[in-house]
Amino acid sequence: MAKADLDKKPFDVAGMFDAVGKKYDITNTILSFGLDKYWRRRARERLGLTPGEKALDLAAGTAVSTIELTKSGAWVVACDFSQGMLAAGRDRDVPKVVGDAMHLPFADETFDAVTISYGLRNVYDFEVGLREMARVTKPGGRLLVNEFSTPVIPVFRGVYKNYLPYALPRLAKVFSSNPEAYEYLAESIRAWPHQDELAAAINRNGWQDAGWQNLSLGIVALHSAVKAS
Ligand SMILES: C[S@@+](CC[C@H](N)C(=O)[O-])C[C@H]1O[C@@H](n2cnc3c(N)ncnc32)[C@H](O)[C@@H]1O
Repeated sequence: MAKADLDKKPFDVAGMFDAVGKKYDITNTILSFGLDKYWRRRARERLGLTPGEKALDLAAGTAVSTIELTKSGAWVVACDFSQGMLAAGRDRDVPKVVGDAMHLPFADETFDAVTISYGLRNVYDFEVGLREMARVTKPGGRLLVNEFSTPVIPVFRGVYKNYLPYALPRLAKVFSSNPEAYEYLAESIRAWPHQDELAAAINRNGWQDAGWQNLSLGIVALHSAVKAS
């Protein structure tokens, strides 16, 4: 079965997601105890899209994140480099484009807002990804990164750190079409920058005023910023 490692080689990452596509949505909901829906709603509310705006949902996978964003009335395109994930979301009626976050297939200053949910952590060089997202955003446009992060309460952080490498892959064995992918999920979350470090990286790479909101005690953080002028 396909599993990427922390080198995040694009071919391995895309192959791993191709192999989880069919059961991706249901596995997510089970492993997050249903919180995934709440986190997506909060991401939509924080990005604050309005009817008539044009947005990019990068690393959209099965377009489960895209369909949530369309509830705002904005026009949202799903982009991902895993054709297996996009195909698994074929019944979701949103425009879908195959593309790599590090070489986006869109012109400069196309979108009012760009967003990425549980995707930035998987990009080979996420700082290049942030600059690409800035390139395709209009002046004054917005960024929203919805990503796993570091729980803020020490006791809970300890419990969660144990849940990730032990329980998560075991649960995934029951539900996922590619359980090894969930070992990578646990490893990549543990290696991901803390909230303040990610905000600094965002501000270094084409954006300004990066801030964040923790959800579920910091299991997830919503980072937002505006395109640097
Ligand atoms: C965990 S899924 C998230 C899917 C969806 N956004 C969601 O909220 O459930 C991560 C997605 O990132 C995509 N991805 C990872 N690296 C990428 C890259 N460099 N360019 C485009 N997509 C990428 C994967 O193919 C996968 O579909």
